Amino acid sequence: MIFFFFKAKTIYKVHSPFLFRLIQRVLEQPLTYYEEKAIQEYQNQLSKSNQFIKKLDRGAGSLVKGNDQTTSVKHLANISSASPFKGRMLFRLINEYSLSSILEFGTCIGIGTAYMAKANSSSKITSIEACPNTISLAQKTLDHLKIKQVELINTTFEEYLGQLEPSQKFDFIYLDGHHAKEPTLAYFNKLLPHMDAAFCIVIVDDIYWSKGMNEAWKTLVKDSSFQLSLDFFQFGVLIRNSALSTKEHYPLIQRKFKPWISGFFSN
Ligand SMILES: C[S@@+](CC[C@H](N)C(=O)[O-])C[C@H]1O[C@@H](n2cnc3c(N)ncnc32)[C@H](O)[C@@H]1O
Repeated sequence: MIFFFFKAKTIYKVHSPFLFRLIQRVLEQPLTYYEEKAIQEYQNQLSKSNQFIKKLDRGAGSLVKGNDQTTSVKHLANISSASPFKGRMLFRLINEYSLSSILEFGTCIGIGTAYMAKANSSSKITSIEACPNTISLAQKTLDHLKIKQVELINTTFEEYLGQLEPSQKFDFIYLDGHHAKEPTLAYFNKLLPHMDAAFCIVIVDDIYWSKGMNEAWKTLVKDSSFQLSLDFFQFGVLIRNSALSTKEHYPLIQRKFKPWISGFFSN
């Protein structure tokens, strides 16, 4: 974390006009949309719930992988779901570039899904989740927030990839489940032919969660079909933009965390 903090650049250290605008309109955008507030309120409500469910966990977050475990809805809302910062970034990236064909790996209770859905009402979202009990909570989240454009699919990522139509393309992919090196790289490689050739954003969650996840992220950053990689510490963002001719990588932080760096005195 400390190493990231020292390396991280603020808006004052970037030169590319595309990236400067992205930081201004996504990372530094001061407005909070009404839709974001509604999602946060619902997440807060769930974070006080006393309900427990049986969770069938297929990912690396489970203590006993592949076994059913009892978990609290409170934990799913507080720990497993998108934080308000991450939700805001998902919302703003989709909103800024009007992205409309969205895939989420790891629905959980639908908080990240809701941010993505509210960002563009004419989008189509496919969200994959192995645990049937979690996916029913996600459906409740979507119903509560009156979200209709999401298809929740109760299956594993592996099974979904095996039946994906070759012609299916996505312009936004959020990889947020099974946080381990080999599965993350395998999912990414299998999804590569389904990523829009001209413009596509891939979010890779928890890139510092383990040594393996960090190695996976460093491998993905080198992919030559993406021109830009942004390290936001909690997650990484890969951007394919055929209009950009150079390849760049930036660890990024909001300027409020480095207030001594200004447009005049940065170095
Ligand atoms: C961190 S949570 C997702 C949080 C959600 N994306 C959000 O932003 O609010 C990860 C979810 O992925 C699911 N998962 C993990 N590995 C999976 C797999 N191989 N197939 C399907 N679902 C999986 C878990 O059950 C868990 O609910």
